[in-house]
Amino acid sequence: MEAYDTRILPVSEAALAEGAALLSHGELVAFATETVYGLGADATNDTAVARIFEVKERPRFNPLICHFPSGAAAAGKVHFDERARQLAAAFWPGPLTLVLPRLHGCRISLLCSAGLDSLAVRVPAQDSARGLLSRVGRPIAAPSANRSGNISPTAAAHVASELNGRIPLILDDGPCPLGLESTVLDLSGEAARLLRPGGVPSEEIEALIGPLETAETPADGSEALLGPGRLASHYAPEHPLRLEAQQATATEALLAFGSEPLTGAKVMLNLSPGGDMVEAAANLYAFLRALDSMEVSGIAAMPVPERGLGRAINDRLRRAAVPRPDAAAEEPRNAGEELLRNLGSLS
Ligand code: TXA
Ligand code: MG
Repeated sequence: MEAYDTRILPVSEAALAEGAALLSHGELVAFATETVYGLGADATNDTAVARIFEVKERPRFNPLICHFPSGAAAAGKVHFDERARQLAAAFWPGPLTLVLPRLHGCRISLLCSAGLDSLAVRVPAQDSARGLLSRVGRPIAAPSANRSGNISPTAAAHVASELNGRIPLILDDGPCPLGLESTVLDLSGEAARLLRPGGVPSEEIEALIGPLETAETPADGSEALLGPGRLASHYAPEHPLRLEAQQATATEALLAFGSEPLTGAKVMLNLSPGGDMVEAAANLYAFLRALDSMEVSGIAAMPVPERGLGRAINDRLRRAAVPRPDAAAEEPRNAGEELLRNLGSLS
């Protein structure tokens, strides 16, 4: 993998212009969105998109979300039906990703679709992200800017700890206001399917377009092409994570929630003492990261109510609680090179 002297630039006109220039030349740039930091590449450049997989050490052909500065910019690439139009009008710019049928002649790399005939599209709310996107003038493919299997970054320093030396530039726009990934909704078929709970609560989507199906993890392990973030250990911290904790031990780190945090843990961070889901979502990944860096026997997480953003928080906690696969069982680190070689057979 090419080595870079990674720079972190606070967002400014000049920094955005530089980011846009790098992206236009096929380089990867990390940037803030309202959800989490993204690792961006020109979505029309096969090699740039393939390098995302290399830099993240992503072991599989997961499809990628394409980011646009406006709904109108996305309209030329995918087919919006009535449901999609309604949802885009209600929630864009914002943390909702729509999986829609690719339009004929769509020039976006087939690697973004992982061989499917659908494409995930989203218009981020962060001003600096949309500024960057309009300057590039091309759709930007961007997964979360973490190495595969790690927690999504919600601050520029997190991105640096994940990708230092692997990319030329991180655009620093402070901590992400939402702190949790976008909701991914599949509208490529007749039934609307919730692929990933996220920043827009499913209740708000259902209020507009009716009941949603939820994606079941297929028994044959073919999840990579079907649903997002479905690798069992997608969000795994290094320490074991225990859910629904009713008590905490003196060797544990406690991820608390609400006005009555458990006592007795070695260290404690409270997602939201006032029980506010928005505050809890914004703190989730930063707190998991912080607790994971402590010398403790494990992390105990108190229950979070299963409503609104709480669904997305619980989804991430459940994934993080699944033990990491054996390092030996993981696929080779040169997955990106392998991908580049296989590009021909995909297109
Ligand atoms: O908030 C977010 O969505 C962030 C920011 C950077 O925009 N992005 C993000 O990307 O979380 P990523 O790659 O970490 O997760 C996107 C998920 C993937 O797990 C992928 O499987 C799913 O969306 N996805 C993308 N395109 C898809 C498609 N065509 N069909 C089904 N799932 C798709
Ligand atoms: Mg991710």
